[in-house]
Amino acid sequence: MNITHISAECYPAAKAGGLGDVVGALPKYLNKAGDEAMVVLPYYQTDWLKEIDTDFIYEGTFPFDGKSLSFSVCRVEKKVLGFELYLISIPGRFDRPGIYIDPWSGHPYWDEMERFFSFQIAALEWLNNRQNKPDIIHCHDHHTALVPFMMKECFRFDEFKEIPSVLTIHNGEYQGKYPADVYRTLPAFNLENLGILEWDKQVNCLAAGIKTAWKVTTVSEGYMQELLDDCNGLEHLLRQEEQKTAGIVNGIDVDVWNPKTDPLLEKNFTVRSIVKGKDLNKHALCDQFSVPADRPLFAFIGRLVREKGADMIPDLITTCHNRGIEASFIVLGTGDPALHDILRKLVDTHVGYFDSRLEYNEKLAHQIYAGSDFLMMPSRVEPCGLNQFYAMRYGTIPVVRKTGGLADTVIDISEPNGYGIVFKNFNLEEFVESVERGVDVFNQKELFEKNRKEIMKLDFSWNRSTEKYIELYKSLISKQI
Ligand code: GLC
Repeated sequence: MNITHISAECYPAAKAGGLGDVVGALPKYLNKAGDEAMVVLPYYQTDWLKEIDTDFIYEGTFPFDGKSLSFSVCRVEKKVLGFELYLISIPGRFDRPGIYIDPWSGHPYWDEMERFFSFQIAALEWLNNRQNKPDIIHCHDHHTALVPFMMKECFRFDEFKEIPSVLTIHNGEYQGKYPADVYRTLPAFNLENLGILEWDKQVNCLAAGIKTAWKVTTVSEGYMQELLDDCNGLEHLLRQEEQKTAGIVNGIDVDVWNPKTDPLLEKNFTVRSIVKGKDLNKHALCDQFSVPADRPLFAFIGRLVREKGADMIPDLITTCHNRGIEASFIVLGTGDPALHDILRKLVDTHVGYFDSRLEYNEKLAHQIYAGSDFLMMPSRVEPCGLNQFYAMRYGTIPVVRKTGGLADTVIDISEPNGYGIVFKNFNLEEFVESVERGVDVFNQKELFEKNRKEIMKLDFSWNRSTEKYIELYKSLISKQI
């Protein structure tokens, strides 16, 4: 099968979060399984994309808002990433360093609609002009959710009507909502079907994708169930379309995330050398952050936003400190500016107990997974979560709230075959209690070492879930007329 992923992110070319990791790994695993998968991405000016060699492939024009815009397509060869990466240049829209946010101002780019609408049209325009059409088009989140709509409705893309489309929702909070009249920017379609684009009197890209994709997936079964109850206003629509939905849990790229070979670590290690390996990494990490290495080290990595429960971290640290809980805490991430201020102050008032780096830093993230004892994920909402997998692969015990993909993938240590620390309700008391349970485990050396070894051996690689996607693609192809 020939599978074309169209996405706003793809690691290592462009990553803002887990979506990038998924689109950077799944196509590689599909290729390993004998299929032909590739990715179409905007040609941003990220550091990685500025450095990499590309071949020029195609130049064309497409209609946008009644005008004709030019675009070009370049390719990164398959040997670089394990799949072909096609990059769409649209002058004035993507020749910037950020994906969604301007790194200089910290604000989202003002022309999100123009950027991602034009990217989606250009991607289809190019695919339309290629001789071999894909067997499946797989889109991700609202930035590419208009693709299934255009494949079905736009006269210009008639040839795509019979090609199955898949839309994966990595995050139902963001939906791509715009004023109703932006439909004018799209290539012509029958205006009697304008309603397909809309939800709540606005153009809603995610809603349009849910209505028109052949299959709608999310990144865990638990999250699919949650979305059917609450998808920020789209739950009713999802329930209506329930028969075409499925939850497939993400995996991780175990070549990139391998403590035995990871070039970013202070010391590589395996299950057999875990004690020494973790210890050396922990010392190096504690030197970088100003915290002592002899206490259990709890880390948080991720976007500092409500969804991830990051706003509970300051209260957690203050409470643990006040109660004299012997532990250290570190945070890596960026997000809500108000939370940045709070965390900065907290570093000053809790010297030697807490430290943070308020930045996006892939290298440091690897070092934190390797050097920490526990990784905290107190998410309010977690579609799948990948950090719990990375942590476990590096022998770090996850402390998670029971929600979405976290509930599906982390079993509490008190249960049969359990290995993590899970708390049920989103409140400070339960979170603090989980940290206390972690400290307890840390102090029972035998249990702690055994548990660390067990989690390193668990298989969360893409191998398992790739099979599920292949089955899904095949079932759609068999439905073609
Ligand atoms: C989003 C979700 C995260 C998920 C990732 C990849 O970032 O918040 O839970 O793992 O997408 O699907």
